Amino acid sequence: MFLTDAEQNQLKELLSRFEGDSHVQDMKKYIQHGSVTTFTHCKNVTYVSFWMNRKFKLCSDEKALVTGAFLHDFYLYDWHVPEEYHRLHGFSHAKVASGNAVKFFGIGPKEQSIIQCHMWPLNITCIPQSREAVIVCLADKVCSLIEIFVHRK
Ligand SMILES: [Fe+2]
Ligand SMILES: [Fe+2]
Repeated sequence: MFLTDAEQNQLKELLSRFEGDSHVQDMKKYIQHGSVTTFTHCKNVTYVSFWMNRKFKLCSDEKALVTGAFLHDFYLYDWHVPEEYHRLHGFSHAKVASGNAVKFFGIGPKEQSIIQCHMWPLNITCIPQSREAVIVCLADKVCSLIEIFVHRK
């Protein structure tokens, strides 16, 4: 919507490594907010992050930005179902998502840090350390608010 055709193609290219993967596709099974799946939420955050970077000329590393944004909630469970292993979902899921991203895609330390710190300031000690991490942290808040209030079930 806000990206040009050329920008949309660049974004698609950066996502091509991930989108067809079966573990990534599993995110379509889980609801993130309202009626929005985790997969769609991650795509929304990626789109907004990419747009913010271009719009405000933030000159971030777009490969790291897109990887961190798209995998930031790659925790792969339904957080609405009470289970002991994700009892503190708000605090713990960023680390789980980062671990899955390492396990399935071998992402590097920069991307791991983007994912792990996206829940700041809830995770008060995990402060976004790079401009990419700040962008994803902000885009996640914007998208979450829209999804909660606009896409209520
Ligand atoms: Fe999250
Ligand atoms: Fe998120």
